[in-house]
Amino acid sequence: MNRVHYDSHQLDELVLQMMETEQVGERVYRAALACAHHPALKKEWQGYLRDSQAHQGVVRRMCDALGLDPQAPTAARAVVRQLGDAWVQAIETAQRTSDPDTAQRVACECVLHAETKDHANWELLGRVARVAVGDVGQTLKAAHKAVEKNEEHHLQHIQGWHRELAIQALGLPAVLPPPETGKKMGLGGAPRSEPQVALH
Ligand SMILES: [Fe+2]
Ligand SMILES: [Fe+2]
Repeated sequence: MNRVHYDSHQLDELVLQMMETEQVGERVYRAALACAHHPALKKEWQGYLRDSQAHQGVVRRMCDALGLDPQAPTAARAVVRQLGDAWVQAIETAQRTSDPDTAQRVACECVLHAETKDHANWELLGRVARVAVGDVGQTLKAAHKAVEKNEEHHLQHIQGWHRELAIQALGLPAVLPPPETGKKMGLGGAPRSEPQVALH
């Protein structure tokens, strides 16, 4: 079988962006938790905050395997940080200036942005892990295997919360917790065909 080559400089760049993204995730969840008042959402975000911290450890091990300083700056990483700063600021502004339901929805929107980037990073890492060989290949495969499912949950669940809380705000029947959370986490979300709550 022909060996597939990849650009190792771009892999380094990706891994450093991943480090920043997980750090941004931690900050976004801390800010978002201050706006979360639905008990299931709060509980989920507390867990995902811990996941973001654990993922930093996994990315740090990849940095070691690649001989990278986990805090090394790059231009693309600076963009991740700048976006993260904007999300945290948006959440804090909403908390200060909006009603609690609006602030919770703004927090969901910002978590959705952060988790979209986080999930995309890990998906790309998986592409490289499939073709990388040797010690680096093993480290990448182990890291991806450890985190992949976790990131799928993060993204699917926040897509569900973001959608259902917006539906609720419109005065339409919402499913809370969203169906996505029930599927994977046993939190008791009902299927969309049987909406539980008609609010207002
Ligand atoms: Fe993550
Ligand atoms: Fe995540």
